[in-house]
Amino acid sequence: MAASNKERVEVIVVEYDEIARTVARRIAEIIKERRAAGGHAVLGLATGSTPIGIYRELIRMHREEALDFSDVVTFNLDEYYPMTPDSIHSYHRYMRENLFNHINVRPENIHIPRGDIAREAVDLECDRYEAAIRRARGIDLQILGIGKTGHIGFNEPGSGMDSRTRRISLDTMTRRDAAGDFFGEDNVPTEAITMGVATIMEAREIALIATGEHKAAIIRRAVEGEPDPDVAATYLQKHENAVFYVDFAAAADLTRLRTPWVLGEVKWTREKEIDAVIWLSEVTQKSVLKLDAHDYREHHLSSLLARYGSAGPLNGAVFNALISKIRGRSKLPAGKRVIVFSPHPDDDVISMGGMLNKLHQNKNDIIVAYQTSGNIAVFDHEVRRYADFLRRFGHDFDINDSTAGALIAEVEQFLKTKKAGEIDVFPVQVMKRAIREAEAVSGIETFGMKASQARFLNLPFYQTGKVKKDPIGPEDVRRVLALLEEHQPELVFVAGDLSDPHGTHRMCLEAVQEALSQYSGAPPEMWYYRGAWQEWEIAEADVLVPLSEDELRAKIQAIFKHQSQKDRAPFPGQDDREFWQRVEERNRSTAQRVDRLGLPEYFAMEAYVVRRGGEPVEAEIAPTSSLSVGGKDWPSRNNAVKAAR
Ligand code: F6R
Repeated sequence: MAASNKERVEVIVVEYDEIARTVARRIAEIIKERRAAGGHAVLGLATGSTPIGIYRELIRMHREEALDFSDVVTFNLDEYYPMTPDSIHSYHRYMRENLFNHINVRPENIHIPRGDIAREAVDLECDRYEAAIRRARGIDLQILGIGKTGHIGFNEPGSGMDSRTRRISLDTMTRRDAAGDFFGEDNVPTEAITMGVATIMEAREIALIATGEHKAAIIRRAVEGEPDPDVAATYLQKHENAVFYVDFAAAADLTRLRTPWVLGEVKWTREKEIDAVIWLSEVTQKSVLKLDAHDYREHHLSSLLARYGSAGPLNGAVFNALISKIRGRSKLPAGKRVIVFSPHPDDDVISMGGMLNKLHQNKNDIIVAYQTSGNIAVFDHEVRRYADFLRRFGHDFDINDSTAGALIAEVEQFLKTKKAGEIDVFPVQVMKRAIREAEAVSGIETFGMKASQARFLNLPFYQTGKVKKDPIGPEDVRRVLALLEEHQPELVFVAGDLSDPHGTHRMCLEAVQEALSQYSGAPPEMWYYRGAWQEWEIAEADVLVPLSEDELRAKIQAIFKHQSQKDRAPFPGQDDREFWQRVEERNRSTAQRVDRLGLPEYFAMEAYVVRRGGEPVEAEIAPTSSLSVGGKDWPSRNNAVKAAR
């Protein structure tokens, strides 16, 4: 992919698996090159969610290809302060669990800033860390992630170009991002020890990795923005050998993907045409049918105009394509076998409550399959309340036999002494799961559906009791596959909303994709929904479902049934709003944007991407152009762009 003139650093946009393989291969090369030259490799390592795939690949190479780490020296970027190395939150422990325990690196060659030293000893320790890097003759390759503040390491806004290893205060946004892992923002340390910007910049080679929609805005800022002390990653623009490896979701806001026509010649596809015309309509604040040739020429879209000769036919084609996306109840599936996969026991109503209601009214045969128990996201005080209820219930009906009484006592005793982040004892895990199951049933009953339509798959990958999950395994896939075989769905709904805080949606999608690849029945039509964390853009959505005021209210009522997630969700992400508020704003804003494009005015709208046999669905009123539509694989505009390149 040719870099645009707006990009001030080299950016490679590929899927995450490929990023992990490429970076791991580069590490292996460096290890071998340095050894062949009579030295040894010095690696700069990062923690967080991003490098996990690279570490997995390195472990695989060590096991299967005998990649030898016996002389490799490592320096990690940072550690929380204060932090004991054995804490579940410690980066020492993270590195052991995710890499060091599985390769033959020597303990004496590992360096990670210490978070367990006295405050007055920190400066000296930081100087020693710098000296150790110098003694090792500098870092050959530094791996970096990027925080939403643009931090590299923990170099938060304001970090100078000449900063060195030091103690630093963590930004509020960074602490909020980490809140999920720490079971609450208040438990996140306020400080960290981090390599400085100058320390990082001295590495001979740098690979910054970013994945996910939630990194898109900061990647654009870091890549296309002016160097700025408020965004430490912009300093990397000055490094001679720094490369950003970014997946399609994190690259989505780069000009070359968002509005490539402003940079030069574009290979037009139907999807890109729709995208460009919607953009033009929003920029000029004119409805689609009112756009004129002058608007197109003034906004770098002459080449698109030239394909149609004049604005009228182009406007008309896009208008028709947009109109055909709008599908009220009469145009939605009826009498079909449907499985709705809901990663957590509330994504169904949050993301597709309006659709679920209409599908039920259309007499489809629906199963809602809740993939994970969601028990990690239930506050302890909820369990205490239910335990109290059980005790009272048992007392009033005289059924507090010794077993029930002992169980309640165990639960109450455990919760009394539980520390933040401590794994729940089994009965507490079960109670949390049951709380969410009852809420889920109550949610779909709002639409008149039956409890028997809810299935709880309780996928084992989620059942670690911790925020960190296991990889998807055969039993996860088996449970999904068994349901597919049993119900033989013609339509399957899955979450395409992959920016949830712990990556659970992505893993649930993986389980469905893997099960479908083993499924012997006819491939179902796939409907991808979003809602809890983001919404599909109008251009990339294949179907827009209008909701009346009453229908939106019914959807919100169903979301209210998830009481354990109400008022304050344990893992809200960066958004302070409750889920129902996000939904209300997103669904209404989609309708308002559609209205401003000059299409009918609806109260609210849900958006879906639909794939049939890997292909996007054809618009019902076929657009006049013969250009191909969209991409083949994962349904994001960015992949469609990738496929078109
Ligand atoms: C971690 C580090 C941080 C992270 C960044 C992104 O050692 O220094 O800069 O790389 O906060 O974190 P994830 O990858 O979890 O999004």
